[in-house]
Amino acid sequence: MEVQRVQAIAYDSLSSETIPPEFIRPESEQPGLTTYHEQNLEVPVIDFGDQDEEKLVQLIADGSSEWGLFQIVNHDIPSDVISKLQKAGKEFFELPQEEKEVYAKPPGSKSVEGYGTKLQKEVEGKKGWVDHLFHKIWPPSAINDQFWPKNPPSYREVNEEYAKYLHRVVEKLLRSLSLGLGLGGHDLKNAVGGDELIYLMKINYYPPCPRPDLALGVVAHTDMSAFTILVPNEVQGLQVSRDGNWFDVKYIPNALIIHIGDQIEILSNGKYKAVLHRSTVNKEKTRMSWPVFLEPPQELDVGPHHKLVSEKNPPKYKTKKYSDYVYCKLNKIPQ
Ligand code: SIN
Ligand code: FE2
Repeated sequence: MEVQRVQAIAYDSLSSETIPPEFIRPESEQPGLTTYHEQNLEVPVIDFGDQDEEKLVQLIADGSSEWGLFQIVNHDIPSDVISKLQKAGKEFFELPQEEKEVYAKPPGSKSVEGYGTKLQKEVEGKKGWVDHLFHKIWPPSAINDQFWPKNPPSYREVNEEYAKYLHRVVEKLLRSLSLGLGLGGHDLKNAVGGDELIYLMKINYYPPCPRPDLALGVVAHTDMSAFTILVPNEVQGLQVSRDGNWFDVKYIPNALIIHIGDQIEILSNGKYKAVLHRSTVNKEKTRMSWPVFLEPPQELDVGPHHKLVSEKNPPKYKTKKYSDYVYCKLNKIPQ
């Protein structure tokens, strides 16, 4: 069966003021009614560069427990590495539809890898205003070439370069998060799979939408990953939930946005919080974002870290295989 891509629906809606009904969110989710503008609330922005380690650990631990989301600047990924990654992704989505379909997720495939239109089963058949491409970028042994676009020709090189730089950021973040829990510097990394930790790249492509007040890109969720490192383009769209209100996360050029995901919340036994977030779309502009999900290997057991639980501090979460966690979450089976 041919899947209709949001990019094609958006193209057909260009001269119209309406969107198909399956994209209209219930009122309780419509960004036009539920975005809070009264107060400027800013998520933490953390200098990742020349910083005393103890201070950095404290800032990251606070950001992870109070928000579950923070931005980092001075992370040492050159801005041209990021802009080349973005340019290549944009060029892929601008290819003719049939060229993109070559990379479509194969029907029935268990993996999320490939080009596609929807990941989560949503209530009442509602849809998000977004298409995506998923493929693993690290470790090299996990890469499936078939999902890496051959066009534009620079695609592979710029993704490999980004993965290489990202690796250093991931290592430093894992160490800081681990120390922030009072664990040894390597404990958290070991608990999420050590060098087997998977880096799963996703590109979100949100075409212009005639009714950004009624639709959402990606609906409210927490990430299943251990954590996620995202770069957006310059179009505003990421929102974070705090005390029941939705706030815009300010776009900072070249910053990396770090989301604490479910697996780190579980490993920290609830000290760090997975952040509830969603994305909105724009009337005139195409928004894009490049989250990389840092995921434990499928077969790895993840639960509250044994050094963080005791009789006084019982585990607040079950221990289960990462693949079982994902299965339950996607099928809305209580964890
Ligand atoms: C997501 O959480 O999957 C999307 C966030 C974004 O596009 O900024
Ligand atoms: Fe997300």
